[in-house]
Amino acid sequence: MCGIVGYVGPKEAVSFLLAGMEKLEYRGYDSAGIAMLEKGEIRIEKSVGRLSFLEKIINQNKEKLTGTIGIGHTRWATHGRPSTINSHPHTDCDGNFVVVHNGIIENYQSLKEMLIERGHIFKSETDTEVVAHLLEELYDGDFLTAVQKTLRKLEGSYALVFLSKYQPDTIICSKKDNPLIIGLGDGENFVASDIPAIISHTRKTYILGDNETAVVTKDNVKVLDYRGVPVKKKIFEVEWDAQAAEKGGYEHFMLKEIYEQPKAIRDTMSGRIAKDNSKIVLEELNFSVEDINDIERIVIVACGTAYHAGMVGKYLLEKFARMPVEVEIASEFRYKDPIVNEKTLAIIISQSGETIDTLAAMKEAKKLGAKTLAITNVVSSSIAREADKVIYTWAGPEIAVASTKAYTTQLIVVTLLAIYFAQIKNTLSKEEIKELCQGLKFLPEQINDVLEEISPIKTFSKQYGFNENIFFIGRALDYAVALEGSLKLKEISYVHAEAYAAGELKHGTLALVVKEVPVIALATQEDVYDKMISNIKEVKAREAVVIGVAFQDDQEIEKHVDHVIRIPRANKFLTHVLSVVPLQLLAYFVAVTRGCDVDKPRNLAKSVTVE
Ligand code: AGP
Repeated sequence: MCGIVGYVGPKEAVSFLLAGMEKLEYRGYDSAGIAMLEKGEIRIEKSVGRLSFLEKIINQNKEKLTGTIGIGHTRWATHGRPSTINSHPHTDCDGNFVVVHNGIIENYQSLKEMLIERGHIFKSETDTEVVAHLLEELYDGDFLTAVQKTLRKLEGSYALVFLSKYQPDTIICSKKDNPLIIGLGDGENFVASDIPAIISHTRKTYILGDNETAVVTKDNVKVLDYRGVPVKKKIFEVEWDAQAAEKGGYEHFMLKEIYEQPKAIRDTMSGRIAKDNSKIVLEELNFSVEDINDIERIVIVACGTAYHAGMVGKYLLEKFARMPVEVEIASEFRYKDPIVNEKTLAIIISQSGETIDTLAAMKEAKKLGAKTLAITNVVSSSIAREADKVIYTWAGPEIAVASTKAYTTQLIVVTLLAIYFAQIKNTLSKEEIKELCQGLKFLPEQINDVLEEISPIKTFSKQYGFNENIFFIGRALDYAVALEGSLKLKEISYVHAEAYAAGELKHGTLALVVKEVPVIALATQEDVYDKMISNIKEVKAREAVVIGVAFQDDQEIEKHVDHVIRIPRANKFLTHVLSVVPLQLLAYFVAVTRGCDVDKPRNLAKSVTVE
């Protein structure tokens, strides 16, 4: 997965390209490069490492980059290790064409062999380089025709942006299963993988569809479908403001995004809970009783953090609506011959709406006849466009690799959905619905309360952040939260963290719990509270250090644990939205204490667009 930018206009392209790439570094950051057309020649600069390395090279260059048309790329390696040679852009043998790519060319090996046989000389280990050589091979006097012929030969997923010295005023780009947008300026146009790269220049965009190709000059954008027939695109106007994608005074995007959760949740609930708290309103679904009764089974498909939101969804849908639900890891789903048919509702959860495993799983579910409902944060993302129905989380752009506000807004949506199904099926009483609606509306303020109490969390992160193993335990909804807490810690602070259903510890993992090992014990589920206390005693008996997460008014907990993190009391089916917040903060402060790169953890990227 990678970030792509392109510019054509009257200005020097380099400043837009570098600024745009910086906004897209969340998509990949192991190397970066740009290509520019200058005096009829293609000029390329690239470097392994962060974008700042490339910037340094460019700034130290005696000969300044002055071209007014160029493309850029930040890379997350798939084929070929991170290195300067493997960084994009890639060229053909004679340097007549140049390309940047996000995705994977699955048939690159056979294409490469064919091209080598025909005399092409490859410089990199990447799949992308075949695209440049194919273009050279198929060029017959017309740049666009060569691109179209090239695309027909490719299998896999791609967002591709091309330049050619044969047509020095034109960028050509195309996409399949990876995002690409065109920013429409006044006498200048932009290409990018995502909106933050272009928003300070224009709010008017075309969102390219799969197999569409755009021919972009400074004064014109022509979009063609896979047959080469012009497509009339609708302008998509970006509504959120440029500041929304910036750090806004916080040290890291992750911290900013943790603090944005009350607003993100409020926005996500807005208009979806009746004023008198009598019902949930999900106009985007409009399901009738018959539609719901027609669903025999629900399967929730997602990856990582979104999968943890799916676990909460399963718990609540089963509890409230009494519908059978499976939660599947998207990368497993497609290959397991899933039992899915027209009576299945597949709920797809994905912050980015671009995760390729999730997208592929959704396509598989659709193929088998399932109705699909996407929960995503990105309007017009691939998953949103493919799904039959979409509920958006209104978290705003999430830049930090570790998902926080997108996760809590996913929790809100699965909770709303479970109540919505229950109200149609009549499986919750009016009083229960009212209580849940009221409880939901309290959550933003309650999260603010949690965010005001961060000093004990900071202290624990200093005290225990250098331990190499940390355990998280919980029961019922607390178990899903424990999983999310441990993923957060692993992902940004590189601490080995494991989450267990507390009752499961004694079936093996308890052997790892020894003196002074920190155990974070969530104890917010009143139905299993006593059982949880027994599990806490089991780890205390092995001399673990236990940090409990419990309600403000819980006086029992302190008798059994070493420290307590307090959260406000909430409806027992809504506690998960609160209890995860201290765990996000814990992961954050441990990562800071350990000197980790919080927003861009090693080996990871924000949008995982490779299988
Ligand atoms: C979250 O902190 C992770 N970075 C990761 O697990 C993420 O949730 C997963 O890759 C799914 O992404 P998506 O929601 O964009 O599909």
